[in-house]
Amino acid sequence: MKLLLASPLHTTAVSQLQDHHDVRVAYNASESQFRDAIGDREAVILRSGVQLSGNVLSAAPDLRLIIRAGSGLDNIDVDAARAQGVRVVRVPGVSAQPVAELTFALLLAVGRKIVLADRLLRQGHWPKPDLGGPLLHGKTLGVVGAGNIGGRVGEMGLAWGMTVLGCVESPDEARGRRPDLGFPLTSFDKVVQESDFLSLHVPLQPNTRHLVGDEVLSAMKKGSLLVNMARGGVVDEAALLRCLTAGETLAGAALDVHEREGEGVVPELARLDNVVLTPHIGAMASDAQQIIGERVGLLVSAFLHDRLDSEAQPDELVA
Ligand code: MLT
Repeated sequence: MKLLLASPLHTTAVSQLQDHHDVRVAYNASESQFRDAIGDREAVILRSGVQLSGNVLSAAPDLRLIIRAGSGLDNIDVDAARAQGVRVVRVPGVSAQPVAELTFALLLAVGRKIVLADRLLRQGHWPKPDLGGPLLHGKTLGVVGAGNIGGRVGEMGLAWGMTVLGCVESPDEARGRRPDLGFPLTSFDKVVQESDFLSLHVPLQPNTRHLVGDEVLSAMKKGSLLVNMARGGVVDEAALLRCLTAGETLAGAALDVHEREGEGVVPELARLDNVVLTPHIGAMASDAQQIIGERVGLLVSAFLHDRLDSEAQPDELVA
């Protein structure tokens, strides 16, 4: 099969695909480079950071399959793919655990000032009294989007002795899917107002764009901390910068996802010491990436043998 690898995968998966297929690699492609690279391809494999727009798809008359090696679909024009008769599959489940684990790394990093402490120590400074931060134990963790990832974050919060409050778009559907969810679901407003740590895990879609902006930030508790593991665009970063500079509610924030992402981008928030930033590495646990790579190989082969609908898991089939 003629494949376009538009984002890096685990090295084992790349070698296996190269052994069996005609693989073209085009990482970090601009829209016009992406159009050129996809022109004669039958399948494209991508992760976040690449926009598979209708315009790019229109340059790919032979395209039959899109594989999103991860979960988010905000960077794919699924309607355009559907209209073109292109199948779309993704690998959503595997990244839940690594993203949930990194959430806690960032909660601690921002709360206990770990990154700042590391920076200062490297300069020979040991200002211990300035490097205090809150316990997680006994605090309220708010989980906005208590789905696959957020559900795990909440369960981890319970294990740390936190009170956990969650919210979702449709509570009945969420309870149906996870009747064993160990924490209560309530309204978004209550989660925002009562949380000491607010963790975001919603997809980016029209009703979640800038979900956390001036109004929500000003409703948060004084001294609270925000973690964005969802998508850049769910947080209005200009509003977050204003809020952190004013210092009236939030005490700090950690963001793994950003409104602008990619090589060379430095978010404005990087000038603040009470902000921890990572370059969208939530799913980058190497063992998880290996499993995602294996799954991508299986999905390509299932498609080629006309067994996609029977071999893919229901949540992998998008279109
Ligand atoms: C995902 O949606 O699975 C994550 O954002 C990981 C990624 O694709 O980079």
